[in-house]
Amino acid sequence: MTTGVSAWVRERIRLKKSKPVPAHMTFFHCFGGLSFSVILLQLGTVIFMLFFYNPEPQEALKSIDYMSNEVVFGGLFRNVHRWASVILLAMVFSHMTIVFYFKAYRSPREFTWFSGVAQLLVVFLFITTGIILPWDWRAYWAFALWIDYIETWPLIGEYFSHIILDSFSINIGYFIHILILPVTLAVLLHLHFRMVRKHGISEPL
Ligand code: HEM
Repeated sequence: MTTGVSAWVRERIRLKKSKPVPAHMTFFHCFGGLSFSVILLQLGTVIFMLFFYNPEPQEALKSIDYMSNEVVFGGLFRNVHRWASVILLAMVFSHMTIVFYFKAYRSPREFTWFSGVAQLLVVFLFITTGIILPWDWRAYWAFALWIDYIETWPLIGEYFSHIILDSFSINIGYFIHILILPVTLAVLLHLHFRMVRKHGISEPL
């Protein structure tokens, strides 16, 4: 039984040394790579912004205003980071829809799909924590909206929303946004790409 399960897992995660690019790759297979390119863009812009952003409630908006209006190229970096987050979501959704259409989630690519779902969740959390960081009115209402929404979850909603209200600060949001989520995404991307290498691109339907 154990051997059966471990053979099943090994067959899905062990890499072969070389893997030629298959001839059936099309435009539709670009979206995974495009999603990754936007992630790299986000990484580049965030490194710039780390030097100027201050995650204190009184300072957050001031530091962003300073960066956008006083620092050379600051506004450009900020806007690229904001817009690229929306583009990233669109790319990941397109990628997901396309691989779903191609039925690429089927055996043996179950782990590729599951790691993809987890990445989608991480991208979503990047956006929800990122919106809060400037701590302006939009951030305040986005936060309030989330708390209201979480409260409606059956059984755990009220409890969970209280935990967030009691423990949340911009500092924690910042820590999640620039450390926890990037590390989680890096691990998931590693698994995702490993799976793609292992199984190759799915055959046309
Ligand atoms: C951060 C987001 C993501 C990145 C950077 C990414 C990257 C990639 C890349 C580069 C490929 C190979 C080329 C391609 O088919 O496009 C791929 C394949 C794949 N991805 Fe993703 N992906 C992401 C999110 C997702 C999501 C959300 C899902 C589904 C829930 C998913 C499921 C898959 C599957 C099933 C394949 C295999 C496709 C095939 O064999 O035809 N990925 N991914």
